[in-house]
Amino acid sequence: MQYRAEQIRKSGKTIAFVPTMGYLHRGHLSLMVHGHNLADHLVASIFVNPTQFGPNEDLSRYPRDLIRDTALAEEAGVDILFTPGEKDLYPAGFETYVSQTALPEHLCGLSRPGHFRGVTTIVAKLFNIVKPHFAIFGEKDFQQLAVIRKMVKDLNFDVEIIGAATIREPDGLAMSSRNAFLSETHRKSALVLYRCLADAKQMAAAGEKDPQKIIKTCEAAINAEADTVIDYIAICHPDTLADVAAVDQPVVMALAVKVGSTRLIDNLMLFPPGSETL
Ligand code: PAF
Repeated sequence: MQYRAEQIRKSGKTIAFVPTMGYLHRGHLSLMVHGHNLADHLVASIFVNPTQFGPNEDLSRYPRDLIRDTALAEEAGVDILFTPGEKDLYPAGFETYVSQTALPEHLCGLSRPGHFRGVTTIVAKLFNIVKPHFAIFGEKDFQQLAVIRKMVKDLNFDVEIIGAATIREPDGLAMSSRNAFLSETHRKSALVLYRCLADAKQMAAAGEKDPQKIIKTCEAAINAEADTVIDYIAICHPDTLADVAAVDQPVVMALAVKVGSTRLIDNLMLFPPGSETL
């Protein structure tokens, strides 16, 4: 892959890159179409990265289907599908990690210790292998996008990071490979995530400035659904991810909820009256 990337760069062509953990859905495919339109060559990777899963998380049951993914990636315009094995990326003796101090101290980082260290490490490795000019990440993983932007800035990676809008099912559920785990009943419960984010957006637009009031309304809606356990609901600054004291500027509302045994995340920007959209 590194050799191919170097050849492409030497020929003066550009590379767009979409890193994934596979089990592709329309969200991934939209990132790929975006990448296809951006650069001369589109590379996608599929690698279920073990270092970003905690000991009690779903690494072993993470859904995988390489044959289906290959066909979908080809349809979406991927020129090179990079599918390394675990030993290729983490050979015996591997011991160098990339970690950040502040951003992982919020949101998912609190309930998934070590997760973002795994993400920054694998993304740094993939950038060094794929040598992209552009890399595209979904805004659904809002914190991941912020962490990667910061890593690229802090470590002077020569790549432009592009955030792409969350793709949703017609009923609002954000696309995620983990949706495959939801039973019919749990899928219905899961709709509350987007519903309460959309309600929060309306509350903010109507002038509600108190983040706690908005969070409490959302908490009540989620708790009313079967088999839901809230991990966090936060209203925070889109760059620092620190909780805000008032919704008096565009802020991000982010949440993580376990529905049955499946942990789902989602987020939405809230805009107080008169504020510009980002
Ligand atoms: O978002 C994902 O699928 C993963 O976190 C990523 C960026 C591919 C790193 O393993």
